[in-house]
Formats: sequence, structure tokens, C-alpha cells
Amino acid sequence: MVLQETLPEAICAARTAFLARPSLLESKTMYASNPTRGAEAASVIRDIVLPTIDDGRPVNCCIVGIGLNCGPIQQPFEPYVVAANLEHLGVDYKMTLIDIDPKPLLHIKTQSHIFLAQNSCNILPMYSDGWQEYLGLAQVGEMVIHEQTDDLLLRGDYNMEPDFKDRLFREGIYMTSIPRTFQEKLENGEISFMVGNVATTDVSSLGDFDFVSCMNMLYMLPKEGQQLALWNMIQSLKKPHGTMLINDGLDGLEHTKIPLLSQFGGWLNPDVASNMYSSELRLWSKDSFYLSALLTRNQ
Ligand SMILES: C[S@@+](CC[C@H](N)C(=O)[O-])C[C@H]1O[C@@H](n2cnc3c(N)ncnc32)[C@H](O)[C@@H]1O
Repeated sequence: MVLQETLPEAICAARTAFLARPSLLESKTMYASNPTRGAEAASVIRDIVLPTIDDGRPVNCCIVGIGLNCGPIQQPFEPYVVAANLEHLGVDYKMTLIDIDPKPLLHIKTQSHIFLAQNSCNILPMYSDGWQEYLGLAQVGEMVIHEQTDDLLLRGDYNMEPDFKDRLFREGIYMTSIPRTFQEKLENGEISFMVGNVATTDVSSLGDFDFVSCMNMLYMLPKEGQQLALWNMIQSLKKPHGTMLINDGLDGLEHTKIPLLSQFGGWLNPDVASNMYSSELRLWSKDSFYLSALLTRNQ
């Protein structure tokens, strides 16, 4: 097909334009995370991906953009929530974690507890719901701590008023464990790590993935960076059913508004997606907090 033949040229042009830009890491990277993250990825794996795997092999997942900050605490969630869901379903898995910044990956490599400030739940009650759901899925207990423990990392960059820390500990910080299978896989190497910009990383060299999640991240890249990122991730999807979940940031906020998932325009309209990427773009959950879409490899 003509479009496929011209694709490398388009990708080369995007790469040249992208590399000419200054690094985005310092200026644009955002790290927000919370206990509700990962649930959507888990439901795509359950409803779309697992039915395509009929030989009982582990589902091979990749999460691009991990997240690090939940209120005043350094705490990633998406990989743990996905793992807890799979563990609950009794599904074996492998997981590759990619981030442009080594900090979230180092956190996951070294921490065996998960924390959530009561203070964050006061501000956003949905965090409590996500936390309770996690406890139920991972079958883990919780305790409330009122002082610093080894595993707890507070954010150095958080704007804490003078008495904020005291109040934080007085109100309490929930603490629980990472999923049992996640701990095992950290030890046996079935969870692997890659520090890199997804726009310039050869994701396919890291695996042949049944599922790739790239949530709350693409909006940090310029258009040509998004193009390269999608290209790189799509190359890594297992044929014929590999599926990728992406989203468009918060609708209505100018800095996160990108044409990426627009069904009606932009460079990744469905025709372009299906021709250029041998993939099918469809909206996944229009009514959820984020506008999200699936790209399914169909050839
Ligand atoms: C807002 S967090 C979202 C994390 C998670 N996916 C979630 O939904 O909770 C974005 C993450 O993407 C990472 N990131 C940003 N740009 C990236 C890029 N070009 N390549 C890989 N990771 C990137 C950031 O370092 C950060 O950890």
C-alpha cells in the first residue's frame, strides 16, 4: 500500500523535527498518579485482550509513563493496580515499564509498600474508592501510620505550608503492600524496566506485547513526538490482536487538548490510523473522566 511504503519517510521527518526540539523532561513532564489509575487498563486487558489468549500463556503487558506523585507523597499506582486486577483474575502476566524519567522506575524497583495520605482523600474522595478497590483485589490489609517509615517518600517539590507535615502525619497515611505476584516478578525478572523517551525508544525490541497502556502521557509530547510514540508502540503490539490504550487528557483544558483522538480530524484520524499503522482506532470509554481510545492491531 502506498501509505505504508511512504511511512518510514513520514516517521523520519517526524523524528528529525522531534529531535530538533529541546528536551521536554525538565519543562513539561508531569507525574500525577492516584489509586484510580490503572483500572481502565485492567478492564481493557480483561474484556478485550484476555479473550484473544487461548493457550494459557502469561499476558505480556507494557505500561508507558508510570507516574510518581500522589498529593504530597511519591507514589506510583498504575502498575500495581493492573497487577492486582490480574492477580485477582488468576491470570499470569509479564510487565515492562517504560518512563522517560528514572525516578518512577527506581521507586517501583525498590519499594514494597504503597501509601496514600488521608489528606489526599479529603480533597478527592474517589481516591478512597480506588484504594479500597485495590485492597480488595490484592487481598492485602492496611494500617495507618503517623510517623515517617523507611519506605515512605514525601515529595521534596510539594508546596508544604509550615505545619502541613505535622497535619499530614496527625491525620494519618494509609499504608499497604504491593501485590504478591508483583513482588515475586520483581525478584524473578518478569517485571522489567526501561528508561527512555517513548518517542525515540524502540519499544518492539523490549517485547511482543498483548497490551500497551499509554495513559495521561501523550499530551506532554508535541505532535511529531506523539506520532513517533504511537509508531513505536504499535510496532511492539503482538499480531494480530495486540491492543493499545491511549487517552487525550482532560477535555476542555487547553494545555492537554490535543487532536490525537479526535475521530473527526487531526493527523490520526481513523483512515490514517488504519492505513498507516495497520491498526484500528476506536473510542473506548467516551463517558469516563478521560477521553480514551483503543488501537488494535488488525493485521
Ligand atoms: C502524568 S504521569 C501518568 C502515569 C500513569 N500512566 C497514570 O495514568 O497514572 C506521566 C508519566 O509519563 C512519563 N513520561 C512523560 N513523557 C514521557 C515520554 N516521552 N516517554 C516516556 N515516559 C514519559 C512521566 O515521567 C510520568 O511518569
